Amino acid sequence: VYRVFFAPLDLRRKLEDVGYIHHDSSLTKEESVWDTQRRKKIGNAPPVFPNGWFKVANSNWIKKGQVKSIYLFGEHIALFRNKRGLLRALNAYCPHLGANMAAGGKVVNSDCLECPFHGWKFSGETGKLVDVPYAQKVPTFVSVKKWSCCEVDDMAYMWYHCDGGEPKWKIPSAETIHSLKYVGKTEHIINCHIQIGPGAVHIHVRTPFFRGLMLQNVTPIEPFMQKLTHTFYCSTWVPVCIAKAFYLLETTQIERDILMWNNKTYFRKPILVKEESALAKHRRWYQQFYSENSPKVNQRGELVTP
Ligand code: FES
Repeated sequence: VYRVFFAPLDLRRKLEDVGYIHHDSSLTKEESVWDTQRRKKIGNAPPVFPNGWFKVANSNWIKKGQVKSIYLFGEHIALFRNKRGLLRALNAYCPHLGANMAAGGKVVNSDCLECPFHGWKFSGETGKLVDVPYAQKVPTFVSVKKWSCCEVDDMAYMWYHCDGGEPKWKIPSAETIHSLKYVGKTEHIINCHIQIGPGAVHIHVRTPFFRGLMLQNVTPIEPFMQKLTHTFYCSTWVPVCIAKAFYLLETTQIERDILMWNNKTYFRKPILVKEESALAKHRRWYQQFYSENSPKVNQRGELVTP
């Protein structure tokens, strides 16, 4: 009773749970997904990762001094919160002998990540090697890739740019969030190219009865695999069970769309009628998030970086 009437919604769907029709009963769901993915015609799809900010996790997922392993943009990344509370992200593979620093690495000296294998230390601010515990001279040319991070509305974001460029804009706070209450969160894994955001969209809901805000986040895990997260807030006086019912209806619509996204191909020049001009406009607007060197996937499914 408590869960239905008072607890926030927390729905996590696995890839095989939503967005696929399992026609062949002799296959497991995982096999059927794999089969569909393998046969799908990718089409002349746009680059796989747009430049921009992408949600990594909720801020409270990582505490001061903790190191977490994340896998985004096809890269293993060590995410850590330094002793001052700042979020840092470094490529996880240590340039010494290849240990994964997210697997057993430690936060040391207020802002450094220590490799669990032989103790090399890397600055969280620059990614540069700052200490080799058993060497008199530290090779100054050694570093790991550092990713810019920020936190907005209790969510942690990482900046992706195909050329390694610094952030070009800030994620705005959804200011109305502070006058609304948290209703819940849904998470889906989808197989499609990404073309919303890029990464973060604020959807304001205005009905005659209440106001709401849906934060929509898309995070690229690897080419054509995204984590899609929706977090919903609404007017404080709406009973949680009513707000959740509204949110579940929205989720049903999202899951219908996921079935389309997972199975569709991409047409560079789709046939559109006049009433769909906004779609063409959106595609043109979205071009600004790709650069000359944005990685693409070729017809054989291989990642190609120009
Ligand atoms: S592998 Fe990281 S210090 Fe040796």
